[in-house]
Amino acid sequence: MSEEKFTKKILCIGAGYVGGPTMAMIAAKCPQYKVTVVDIDEKKIAAWQTDELPIYEPGLLDVVKQARGRNLFFTTELEKGIKEADIIFVSVNTPTKTFGEGAGKSADLQYWEKCARDIRSAAESDKIVVEKSTLPVKTAIAMERILNENDKGLHFEIVSNPEFLAEGSAIRDLENPDRVLIGSKETESGLKAREEIVEIFANWIPRDRLITSNLMSAELSKLVANSFLAQRISSINSISALCEIVDADVTEVANAIGKDSRIGNKFLNASVGFGGSCFKKDILNLVYLCETLGLYEVASYWESIVKMNEYQENRFVKTITQALFNTVTNKRIALFGFAFKANTSDTRESPAFYITKKLMEERAKVVITDPKALANAKRDLAGYNDAIEYVEDPYEAADKSHAVAIITEWDLYKTLDYERIYKQMEKPAFIFDGRNILDHQKLFEIGFNVYPLGKPHLIHFKEV
Ligand code: UDX
Ligand code: ADP
Repeated sequence: MSEEKFTKKILCIGAGYVGGPTMAMIAAKCPQYKVTVVDIDEKKIAAWQTDELPIYEPGLLDVVKQARGRNLFFTTELEKGIKEADIIFVSVNTPTKTFGEGAGKSADLQYWEKCARDIRSAAESDKIVVEKSTLPVKTAIAMERILNENDKGLHFEIVSNPEFLAEGSAIRDLENPDRVLIGSKETESGLKAREEIVEIFANWIPRDRLITSNLMSAELSKLVANSFLAQRISSINSISALCEIVDADVTEVANAIGKDSRIGNKFLNASVGFGGSCFKKDILNLVYLCETLGLYEVASYWESIVKMNEYQENRFVKTITQALFNTVTNKRIALFGFAFKANTSDTRESPAFYITKKLMEERAKVVITDPKALANAKRDLAGYNDAIEYVEDPYEAADKSHAVAIITEWDLYKTLDYERIYKQMEKPAFIFDGRNILDHQKLFEIGFNVYPLGKPHLIHFKEV
C-alpha cells in the first residue's frame, strides 16, 4: 500500500513487552493503518526486524510476520515517526522511583515526560497521545499541560488506554480481550479523540467490550485491576501458610471456595509469590497516591498485599533452610525456573531473584535453569555473585544437588524423569514445589522428601 492510502498513521514509542505485541496485533488486524514502533534501544529494534524477537511470547512471531514490512515498521527514528503520526501510543517503562520524594513507591516519570517533550518539539500537526504505560492517576493531565504549552498553535488530546494483557498469553489477550478501556476528557475534542481510538479496536473487538470512561477512571482502573488480582494471590498465599500447619491442602481449599461463583476460580493458585513488572509497582502507586491524599488506612490496607508477598518469598527460603537441617551453606540448590511466570522470558520482580539472593547470603551454591529466561537471569544477577551457575539442561542443574526448588511453573518441569533426577542427587534428596505442579506422592515414592506449598510435607524421616 502506498503511504497516502493508509487511513491512519500510528506511532508507538517503546518497543517492549507491551508496545511490541500490541502494535503487532493492531497492524495485523488493520492493514489499512500504518503502524510504526520506535525505541531508543537500537539492538531491540534490530531484533524486532528478525525472527529472533527481543521478547519471548507464544504466537507473537506469527502475528509480527503477518504485518512486518507491509504496514508494521520498527525504527529508531523518533522525530520522523512523530512528524508523520496522527496517533501516538506511549509505551515506555515507568519503573518505581529509586530516589527522592516517593522513592520505593511512586512511579519514575522521567521517561514519560521526556516523551511528551520530544513529541512537542518534533510535532508539526495536532495529535492524539495515548497513555499505554501504567501511570499514576493524573499523569494524563500533567502531560496534556506539557504538550499543549507549545508556541506552534498545536493541540494535543490525551487518551488513556491502559493495557490489561498478561505476558505469556499476550496474543490471546490482545486478540480476544475481556475488555478494552479507553478514557478521555469529556470535552468535545476529548470525546472525538476517544472515538478515534475506539475505532481502531472495533476492527476486531465487539463494541460491547470497548469500555469508555473519563481519564481518571481509566488511569485508576488499571491500578485497581492489578491490585485486586495481586490481592487474590496474597490472600491464597496467606492461607497456604496456615494449611501447612493444620494439615489442610490449599488446592482443595482454593477449589472449594472457587466454586462459589461470587469468588470464582481464577488467580487462586498458591505460589512462591507474584512477580512481574506490574503488580508490585501498581500497588505501590496506589499506596503512594492514597498516602499523598491522606488516606493512610486505605494505603496501609493495599500495602499489606505487597508485604504478604514478601512474607511468602521469605517463608519459602526458610522452609528450604529448615528442611536442609538448618544450613544450606555449601549445599547445591537447583532453582527450576527464573522467569516470573511460565511462557515468558521476563524476570522483572521475579520471586526467583529474591530467593537466589537469600540463598546466596546463606552461602548456598545456587544453580539456575530456565528454558527462556537464563539470559535475563544472568543480567539481573550480574556482579552479584560469580559463584552462581546458569545451566540450560535441568538434569545437569540437578546433578549432585541437595535440593531442587520449582520456582516457575514451566510445563517442561512436569514431565521430567524424576527417577533419573533422584539418582543424580545427593541424599537425602529434597524437592520444594513452589508452584504445586508436580505429582508429590509419586516423588515421595521415588525417595524424595517433598515440600509442596500449602500442603502436608511428605518426608521419610521425622522432621526436626
Ligand atoms: C498482570 C495482569 O494480569 C495484566 O492484566 C496486566 O496488564 C499486567 O499485569 P502479568 O504480570 O503479565 O499480568 O502476569 P499474571 O498472569 O497476572 O501473573 C502475575 C504474577 O502472579 C506471576 O508471578 C504469576 O506466577 C503469579 N500468579 C498468578 C500466582 O502466583 N498465582 C495465580 O493464581 C496467578
Ligand atoms: P513494558 O513492559 O511496559 O512494555 P519495557 O521495559 O519492556 O516495558 O519496554 C519499554 C521500552 O521503552 C524499552 O524498550 C525502552 O528502551 C523504551 N523507551 C524508554 N524511553 C524511551 C524513549 N524516550 N524513546 C523511545 N523508547 C523509549
